[in-house]
Amino acid sequence: MAAMSTTPAALPRVLSGIQPTSDSFHFGNYLGALRQWASLQDGHEAFYFIADLHSLTVPQDPKELRKRFVACAAQLIASGVDPARSAMFLQSHVPEHAELGWVLQCITSFGEARRMTQFKDKSGKDGEGAASVGLFAYPMLMAADILLYRPKYVPVGEDQRQHLELTRDLAQRFNHRYKKTFPLPEPYILKSTGKIYDLQNPTAKMSKSASSAAGIIDMLDEPSVSAKKIRSAVTDSGSEVRFDPEEKPGVSNLLTIYSSLSGRTVPELEDAYAGRGYGDFKKDLAEVVVDFVTPFRSRTLELLDDRAELEAVLERGSAQAREVASRTLSDVYDRVGLIRIGSGRD
Ligand code: AMP
Ligand code: TRP
Repeated sequence: MAAMSTTPAALPRVLSGIQPTSDSFHFGNYLGALRQWASLQDGHEAFYFIADLHSLTVPQDPKELRKRFVACAAQLIASGVDPARSAMFLQSHVPEHAELGWVLQCITSFGEARRMTQFKDKSGKDGEGAASVGLFAYPMLMAADILLYRPKYVPVGEDQRQHLELTRDLAQRFNHRYKKTFPLPEPYILKSTGKIYDLQNPTAKMSKSASSAAGIIDMLDEPSVSAKKIRSAVTDSGSEVRFDPEEKPGVSNLLTIYSSLSGRTVPELEDAYAGRGYGDFKKDLAEVVVDFVTPFRSRTLELLDDRAELEAVLERGSAQAREVASRTLSDVYDRVGLIRIGSGRD
């Protein structure tokens, strides 16, 4: 009797990236994206990278940038990314990202790249005339990051949705113009935490480029500093703890953070604080935040004691990533009529 094949079906893939533009990730990064990076490791083959090439689209201090890679890696692990299960790497260590990026730029129209709202936002006060060409080409590099791995899901925050749409358009265009090469990746964006707002300016997203540090909770802040930021967060007129993003953006943002860290639902929290006012609510949330950031911070510092291990993790991750990326790039080169030297095909 012929033996039945027992090869397990390949797991669907998941991929995401984060820029090394600050010494510490913040609550928006964690709740909007990183927490999902960790949970999606179950049942998926995961590729997670530090988007160092993307960070060059705006000026960076080389010394500062170089120091950040291990700090980012440590924070990813402290967020729950498990290097034994997921490939964790630096984008620039897999040159296929830049190579596919170029091919995708060549099938993107100037007009559609110009429609990317993040380009407009990030070109800043000096306007697009002074922005780098790299900043303009950023979404096509991001599309390459994604399509190289043919992932099913891309866990990101709401601000990346438009880039994901462009990625899908480019994948479809490539498939149509040449040959079916890329499955269409799906954004994995949580409705509840896809956009975390600034504590001092709760209609703007929490962002490293915010004008005041008081509005941002950095994951590596001293816990007492984070507690103070919560207690001084802007709340709205009235005194009722109620989820209403239109009328009460400040309180609603705090409810989102409270709910996602404690596992209690928003209606449960509304009930628990009925008739108690903002003071109690913020005091309790400050405690929840301290309980969360304290172990995160010590775990990160502990991991940073062994820099050699973090570097080894990134090196192993890039070898795993290159295996997949190289195969995809060879397919792409073949389809567009280029010849690849040392294609990495088996
Ligand atoms: P970045 O720091 O821009 O590389 O962002 C890393 C990840 O965090 C991306 O998936 C972003 O969409 C996500 N992110 C950044 N800021 C926020 C925010 N305020 N709320 C939710 N997600 C965010
Ligand atoms: N553009 C993303 C951000 O700023 C980071 C990023 C780069 C990314 N390449 C990616 C996210 C690929 C998901 C997939 O947040």
